[in-house]
Amino acid sequence: MRIGLIGLGRIGSFHADTLAALDGVDELVVTDPVTAAVDAVTARLPAVRTVDSPEALLASGVDGVVIAAATNPHAALIHAAVAKGVPTFCEKPVAGSIAESIAVQEAVAGSDVPVQIGYPRRFDPAFVAARDAVRSGELGRITTVRSTTLDPAPPPAAYLAVSGGIFRDCSVHDFDAVRWVTGQEVVEVHAVGSVDPDAPAEMYADHGDHSSASVLLTLSDGTIGVVSNTRTNGRGYDVRLEVHGVRDAVAAGLDEGLPLRATQPGITWPAGPPHAFFMDRLADAFRAELTTFTQVAAGTVDNPCTVTDAMGTAWAAEAATLSAAERRPVTLEEVRTLARSS
Ligand SMILES: NC(=O)c1ccc[n+]([C@@H]2O[C@H](COP(=O)([O-])OP(=O)(O)OC[C@H]3O[C@@H](n4cnc5c(N)ncnc54)[C@H](O)[C@@H]3O)[C@@H](O)[C@H]2O)c1
Repeated sequence: MRIGLIGLGRIGSFHADTLAALDGVDELVVTDPVTAAVDAVTARLPAVRTVDSPEALLASGVDGVVIAAATNPHAALIHAAVAKGVPTFCEKPVAGSIAESIAVQEAVAGSDVPVQIGYPRRFDPAFVAARDAVRSGELGRITTVRSTTLDPAPPPAAYLAVSGGIFRDCSVHDFDAVRWVTGQEVVEVHAVGSVDPDAPAEMYADHGDHSSASVLLTLSDGTIGVVSNTRTNGRGYDVRLEVHGVRDAVAAGLDEGLPLRATQPGITWPAGPPHAFFMDRLADAFRAELTTFTQVAAGTVDNPCTVTDAMGTAWAAEAATLSAAERRPVTLEEVRTLARSS
């Protein structure tokens, strides 16, 4: 199978290594407007074929395309791939704005070309087991879900400027995990954010963005979700999900690399070293996710994260962004109504 890869930045470069090592991938064709990004990948992977543009890549006869470009061009690249009939994997989020995301959803709905959105926690064994525990009923009625994404260090200011803000860029992982594990939709959010007083204005303040955030979620059955995010967690990369029920409770992410130091005397867990970043914590999940995409492209498995599915997460991010800006709870129905009337 020939797979195309558009975008060779932090995640695209990492995906290049993963895709090149997959059994089902015979040829990898890549493109990025930044020559240094292309050179860094071809230096490691000399067998990779390079082309000058996404258009050339989509015309090169690839059997599937992985979009790992910056968020802003996601919508245009998905539209171009779908128009060419090329099965598509696109990194989260669907697009840079809710209007573009809706347009993508409509285009994909009117096509039989599969478009898979990248939410890697759906492929992490611990998250899968947490979902199974909820589905089996062994936890009893779920009372609380707590989801955490704490990055060790912020991305560059240039990335933050076009990221859409912490709720659309980072909290979406938590919104998606909560939806996917519980099988419930988010119906209301109450978000708050803070800004690191030591960060230069171009990182957060200039864009109305936040360096840390918390979001209270109300799910469709009334369950409460609690999301916690920061861009600067000194001890490492902390990805966790706890599900508490009336009979039992489970947690994904409590491994020896959990970046927390217990303060009780005599407790030596977790032994460490702490997870340093998402590439090491989620490497197996990314491999499973991209393997699944090659199977989706081959038509042998169902799409595990459609655009319509991912839109439940996009609407939660939209509501959280408005909620933090206006310091009040916001229903998803409100942001859907606002989008319809604009
Ligand atoms: N699933 C995850 O856990 C995860 C993690 C990190 C990033 N992401 C997502 O992946 C995307 C990329 O993130 P990143 O951290 O690699 O960003 P990055 O800024 O490091 O890299 C983006 C790359 O895209 C390239 N690019 C920009 N416009 C392009 C275009 N029109 N065509 C082709 N290439 C183009 C840039 O030159 C750059 O090399 C973002 O949408 C982000 O939300 C997902």
